[in-house]
Amino acid sequence: MSVRILAIESSCDDTGAAVIVDGKILSNHIANQSIHEQYGGVVPELASRAHQENIVPVVDIALQTAGVKREELSAIAFTQSPGLIGSLLVGSCFAKSMAMALDIPLIGVHHMQAHVLANFIDDPKPDFPFLCLTVSGGHTQIVLCESPLQMRVIGATLDDAAGEAFDKSAKILGLPYPGGPLIDKYAQSGDGNRFKFTEPRIPELNFSFSGLKTAILYFLQENQQKDPDFIAKNLPDICASIQQRIVSILMNKMVKASQETGIRDIAIAGGVSANSGLRKALAEYGTKHHWRTFIPKFEYCTDNAGMIAMTAYYKYLAGDFVSLDVVPTARAAF
Ligand code: KG4
Ligand code: ZN
Repeated sequence: MSVRILAIESSCDDTGAAVIVDGKILSNHIANQSIHEQYGGVVPELASRAHQENIVPVVDIALQTAGVKREELSAIAFTQSPGLIGSLLVGSCFAKSMAMALDIPLIGVHHMQAHVLANFIDDPKPDFPFLCLTVSGGHTQIVLCESPLQMRVIGATLDDAAGEAFDKSAKILGLPYPGGPLIDKYAQSGDGNRFKFTEPRIPELNFSFSGLKTAILYFLQENQQKDPDFIAKNLPDICASIQQRIVSILMNKMVKASQETGIRDIAIAGGVSANSGLRKALAEYGTKHHWRTFIPKFEYCTDNAGMIAMTAYYKYLAGDFVSLDVVPTARAAF
């Protein structure tokens, strides 16, 4: 008997649905919410409303693309935490209703655990134990993975996440939200060695990005005072220098984590793993330090339901289900 799972992701501003059959993703559909751009960040109330509008068509498309009928499903999975509570509630209520109507099990998935397991969607897959640098708009973590469902956070940011560091820097530069991909775009034609931002000295395997943000702000204010066109004239070099520093902060901690644990299978995950500078650096550091490196396909790096489906498949095999009275939570450890 095949295991067919429908997974729903609604933790932030993207409504996603995916179907996985016997561990293979057959569809992965996402509806992005452009409404937030004009506000320079995600507006929680608007995100919940957009999820409500999107969820039925997104689920329909995911089922149709996979060629799976509702009645054939073995389980329904949803993102249980962490995330915006109003957004999580839309996905969880929908998933619960469907599981109840079809009388099939319900699976609650931790969004950050799912980002890590995005590395298991395609081949080659890391061997256990491996280390994963999970970098998104809300989190920056070094995760030690012992098995698909056994993971430990061994390092994390003390303030801003790496994605926030990109987005806030972009905002200071006057770029629209979310600025991470734009910094990446401009950085490609810039010189990352042109402007030097100091690397913070943070103990253990932890990170901090708030000092960098302030340093960038003062640097730009000072230079704009001297020349009001400073940003306009130097945008690619500024973006490349910011990106180079964020990437080196991340990679240097991964070197430390690998040395301390002796683990050389190194993966990255989360929205920021779409960054071309980080992808390039992972390959370079990998060669230098004899790592085997892993990055999910682009569509599985940023928020998506495919990674929720992958995690749900492992949970299904482990019989790890939740009851219909489960509630989503904005924050949760794993
Ligand atoms: O994982 P994700 O899609 O959503 C969260 O769970 O937060 O990550 C979104 C974050 C945003 O901060 C966005 O700016 C950043 O990932 N991001 C990038 C790139 N693509 C997405 N940052 C730098 N370069 C990129 N190419
Ligand atoms: Zn995410």
